Amino acid sequence: MIDIHCHILDGVDDGASDLRESIAMAKVAHEDGVRHIVATPHFNTVYHVPKSITYHKVRQLQDALQEAGIPLTVSCGHEVTLKDAEQFYKQTENNEYFHLNEEKTFLLLEQPWAGYMPDSLEVIDYLIANGVTPIIPHPERHVFFREEPKLLTGLIERGAWTQVSADSLAGRNNEDARRLALWLLENDLVHTLGSDAHNIRRKPNLGEGYQIIVEHAGEARQHEIIQRMALIIPEDGSSNKNPVTA
Ligand SMILES: [Fe+2]
Repeated sequence: MIDIHCHILDGVDDGASDLRESIAMAKVAHEDGVRHIVATPHFNTVYHVPKSITYHKVRQLQDALQEAGIPLTVSCGHEVTLKDAEQFYKQTENNEYFHLNEEKTFLLLEQPWAGYMPDSLEVIDYLIANGVTPIIPHPERHVFFREEPKLLTGLIERGAWTQVSADSLAGRNNEDARRLALWLLENDLVHTLGSDAHNIRRKPNLGEGYQIIVEHAGEARQHEIIQRMALIIPEDGSSNKNPVTA
């Protein structure tokens, strides 16, 4: 399995507190069957983790995992929060954030928690026109998507993908989030699955998420999701062999 959303890097945002916790998270993920984690620290106004720090922390963690005998690849990514379209275009032109893959064809693009970003459609058109598929993390956790799912389906119609969190499917976020996550699953609108793990309590749990997907939507649906994930990070590791390009 591949995890495309994980705050495994230590001391950079609200994720792992120290390197020991990062290694412990990696161990849990590996035991769960994960072989590749894209480290996605926040890229927003509260936690603005620059590429240089992300790069350094990924290398440090990869070395530590090798030393600990945990065969798991970690590569650079970001969870970019969309707040202001002009600022986002500028950050994109300046190459300030990491996509989810070396080819820069997928981007984890979060909505603000305060409310739906009004220029979202325009930004998605811009990204799609530039060969980038935006992946919206945990839409089921945003109140405005729960109240108005059309806001989300509108983004999907323009080419965005969703990333539902395993914790939401398991009912660990709240009942409303679980309800929207299951509704998305029933309507074939779960494009990818992520853990959004932050520490050893809010831990990597993709296996649990996939199990719920199989129970509610069948093995064929699980297979489709896994195939989509392989478009981001191929299972044979042909992408992100050199996981860091600062
Ligand atoms: Fe996150």
